[in-house]
Amino acid sequence: MTNPAANNDLSALPTLSSELNELNEAQLIEFANAAEALILQVNDVRLLQDLRVQLTGKKSPLTGWSKQMGKLSSDDKKTYGGWLHEVRSRIQEALTAHQQQLEMTALNAKLASESIDITLPARGAQKGHLHPVTMITQRMQQYFIQAGFNVATGPEVESDYYNFEALNIPEHHPARAMHDTFYFDAHYLLRTQTSNVQIHTMEKNEPPIRIICPGRVYRNDSDQTHSPMFHQLEGLMVTERSTFAELKGLINEFLEVFFGKELTIRFRPSFFPFTEPSAEVDILDGNGKWLEVMGCGMVHPQVLTNCGIDAEKYTGFAFGMGIERFAMLYYGIDDLRLFFQNDVRFLKQFG
Ligand code: FA5
Ligand code: MG
Repeated sequence: MTNPAANNDLSALPTLSSELNELNEAQLIEFANAAEALILQVNDVRLLQDLRVQLTGKKSPLTGWSKQMGKLSSDDKKTYGGWLHEVRSRIQEALTAHQQQLEMTALNAKLASESIDITLPARGAQKGHLHPVTMITQRMQQYFIQAGFNVATGPEVESDYYNFEALNIPEHHPARAMHDTFYFDAHYLLRTQTSNVQIHTMEKNEPPIRIICPGRVYRNDSDQTHSPMFHQLEGLMVTERSTFAELKGLINEFLEVFFGKELTIRFRPSFFPFTEPSAEVDILDGNGKWLEVMGCGMVHPQVLTNCGIDAEKYTGFAFGMGIERFAMLYYGIDDLRLFFQNDVRFLKQFG
């Protein structure tokens, strides 16, 4: 009698009569011996649970025989009852002992596979650092802060008025073509220069004014020395006696402190609608090429007037530095786009 749902082959058990009163003690002992042997052959806990059902469950021969106990005389009850009890006890003990054995083996295997080798070297923690452009910005700011400038900020999404109009660049002015502006609509754009902060600052404050403003600016422009998003550091000083000589002195000293060495510099006459006179500053790079690092000049009287500042009484100077250009010179990088590719192998070198 085999249980069709189970996977264990019970053919090793002796075939005994299903009638209890046709059995003798020797046959039942042989049955128990064979059952024990069968139990020991199983090496899987689930199969062993099936075997428990097959050997001792409702449909097992053992249970079949036990059900016939009621029909026996009281003498036979004692005899057969004792034998059946013995067989059932031996099978149950063997099942329980073997189950514990299998569970123990499985647990040991699991522990062995999950063990941690504490002698392996640790992976180590990687220390991060600020982006090189951020470090250069902080280094530039440091100089101007000790020189008495305050740090201002302004919007990157700007109106045409603050980015152009108030800076003396009316519509259709050819200077607009120099900027490759990203427009949102007829009135709003991504600022092309941090000079918009000059206007915001002068509208809100009375001279003396001494501010710098580092920030992101945008132009539709990309090559070795141009990126569509880049950073400028704007500077503005308005007092009763600001002069071009003072501007030149400040820039010269800044460059010397920033680079920590003498550099070949030139002030090249230039044009900006919002400064007069205007200049651009170039620095000779490691390959003997001039790199333009900033524009600057005396604030145009019209710009002061646009902001409600008395142009008869006050004069001012302003500058706008290309922060990535300073980073290129400081670190000796010849392609500024590397700063924005975020290749860890590149960035790691600035730690
Ligand atoms: C201006 O943007 C003026 N606002 C600067 C200024 C401020 C003049 C105050 C006078 C008074 P310019 O377009 O030249 O000027 O840009 C200033 C600097 O930004 C350049 O000298 C250069 O160093 C840097 N620069 C310009 N375009 C890019 C770009 N696409 N990518 C990286 N750096 C740039
Ligand atoms: Mg320029």
